[in-house]
Amino acid sequence: MDYKFYFAKRIADSLDGQLTEQQAYELIETPKYASHGDLAFPCFTLAKTLRKSPVLIAEELAVKMDNPLFEKVEAKGAYVNVFLNKATVSKQVIETVLQQGNHYGDMSLGEGKTIVLDLSSPNIAKPFSMGHLRSTVIGNALANIAEKCGYKAVRINHLGDWGTQFGKLIAAYKRWGNDEKIKENPIKELFNLYVKFHEEAETNEQLENEGRAWFKKLEDGDEEAYRLWQWFRDESLKDFSRIYELLGVSFDSYNGEAFYNDKMERIVHLLEEKGLLSESDGAMVVRLDEKELPPCLIKKSDGATLYATRDLAAALYRYETYQFAKALYVVGHEQSLHFNQVFSVLEKLGFAWAKTMVHVPFGLILKDGKKMSTRKGRVILLEDVLKEVIALAEQNITAKNPNLENKEEIARQVGVGAVIFQDLKNERMNNIEFSLEDMLKFEGETGPYVQYTYARACSILRNAQTAATNNIHGLTDDESWEIVKLLTAFPNVIQKAYEHLDPSLIAKYVIHLAQAFNSYYAHTKILAEDEDLNSRLALVRATTIVLKEGLRLLGIGAPERM
Ligand code: ARG
Repeated sequence: MDYKFYFAKRIADSLDGQLTEQQAYELIETPKYASHGDLAFPCFTLAKTLRKSPVLIAEELAVKMDNPLFEKVEAKGAYVNVFLNKATVSKQVIETVLQQGNHYGDMSLGEGKTIVLDLSSPNIAKPFSMGHLRSTVIGNALANIAEKCGYKAVRINHLGDWGTQFGKLIAAYKRWGNDEKIKENPIKELFNLYVKFHEEAETNEQLENEGRAWFKKLEDGDEEAYRLWQWFRDESLKDFSRIYELLGVSFDSYNGEAFYNDKMERIVHLLEEKGLLSESDGAMVVRLDEKELPPCLIKKSDGATLYATRDLAAALYRYETYQFAKALYVVGHEQSLHFNQVFSVLEKLGFAWAKTMVHVPFGLILKDGKKMSTRKGRVILLEDVLKEVIALAEQNITAKNPNLENKEEIARQVGVGAVIFQDLKNERMNNIEFSLEDMLKFEGETGPYVQYTYARACSILRNAQTAATNNIHGLTDDESWEIVKLLTAFPNVIQKAYEHLDPSLIAKYVIHLAQAFNSYYAHTKILAEDEDLNSRLALVRATTIVLKEGLRLLGIGAPERM
C-alpha cells in the first residue's frame, strides 16, 4: 500500500547494494508539481559514490523501474520521476481502507510491548493549569498514537498530592476553613486558603511553624491530618474528573506522589549501597558532576524527601509493575533539568531501562503574547474556560443548523475539539496562542474545520440513493487523486508521529485531507448517476474513515452532523 516502498525497493534492487531499501525510501521525495509525477528519487547522493553525473544515473535507473503500478517513469535532470497508475492505485487504496475500516493504519511496531505515559499530573488543592491542560492533551494523543502502533499504553496521572504545602493547607484550614464552602467549590476555596496562608505568613511567623508541624503529623500518619488530606484530595479529584470528562480523557492510574511514601526508603537504601549518596549541608544528594548537572537532592537536612525522590521511587515501581519498553513524561520544558537529573540517577543505579525514559517537553499557552496563567490574580478555572468554549461552539452550531439533535454533546465535541486541535497542530515546543475566536472558526486550520468536513462527507453518504460501495473501479481525475495519495500516506504519518512523539504531524495531515476533500467536493458532482457513482461514494466513505480515525488519535470526536 505504501507505493513509496515499492519504488524504494525497485531502486535498491537496481543498484546492487549501493543503497538499502530504507536509505532509498528516505531519499524519495514528493514532487511539488503534478507534471513531475507522484514520487521522485534524487540522484545527487549516488553521484558521489558512483562517480557519475546524477543526470546519467537518473537515466540509467529510469529504464529499470518497471512495475505494473507505475504508469510512466521519466528521468528529468537529476531525478527519476514516477507516475503511478491512478486507476489501479486508487482502486487498491479505496478498497483497502473500506475493508480495514478504523483499523486502517494499525501497526505491529509495538506488539507485546508496553509504553507508560506520565501525563496531566495536576497538583491537588490548586487550579488545573494551562500547562496541565497541554500535558493532558499531548499525552493522551501520544498514548492513542502508541496504541495505534501496537503498544499497550498505560496512562498514569502522577498527582501532586504530597509535600510541605499540605501541612500549610491544613494549618490554614484549621484557622479559617469553612466546610460548606469547600464542598461547594473545592479548588477555589482550598486555593484561597493557600493564598491567604502565604499572605498572612508574611507578618505572622507562627504560621510557617504550624504548617511544618501539620506536615510532620501528616507524614507520621496522624489521624486528623490524614483525614483532612484525604478529604482535600477527594474533593480536588472530583473537580479534576469533571475536566477530564469534558476533555474525554481517562487514566489507568491515579497513583500520585503520596503513593510512593513507603517506597522511597528502598531507593535511599539502593543509593547508599552503591555509594552514590553524599552529604551537602546536612542534606543527602547524588552528585552528577560527570554529567555537568547540579546534584540531585534526595533528602533534606530534616529528613524530608523530595519531588525527585518520589520520581525515583515511581520509576522503579512502574518498571517492576509494567516492564515498560518506554516511559514518557509529558511535562512542561521548565522541568527538563529535573528529569535529566532523575534519569541520570537511575542510570547510575545501573538500571538499563533508564535509557528508555524520555521527557516530552512542551511550550507555554499564551494569551495576547503573555503566559496564560490560571493562578495569578483572580483564579481563572480551566473548567470555566472550557465551558465558555463549549457555549460559543453551541452558538456557532445553532447558527448553522438550528434543528440539530443532541446539540449539547455535539457542542462539547466541537468546543473541546477546537481547544485540542489548536494545541496539537503546533509543534510541541512552540508556545501557542489561546484565541477562542480563531480556534472556533469553521475555516482555516481548526478542529471545527476538520469536523465540519467530516460531517459534510457523512451527509453526502446519507443523501446518496445507494449505499453500495462495491464493484468500484479506479478514479483518475486530479482531485480524487489528491485524496488517494493522502489516504496512502496515513500509516506512514502515524509512524512518523510516533517516532518523533509529535501529534502535530497528524493534525496537519487531517487538515490536508480535509482540504483535499473540500476541493474534490467543489469540483465534482459526487452524486451524479453515472458509472462512477459507486467509486466516488467509496472514496467519500474512505475519506470519512480516515478523517475520523485521525481525529480520534488526537483525542477529538467526529460528530456526523453539526
Ligand atoms: N505535579 C507536577 C507539576 O504540576 C507535575 C508532575 C509531572 N510528573 C512527574 N512524574 N514528575 O508540576
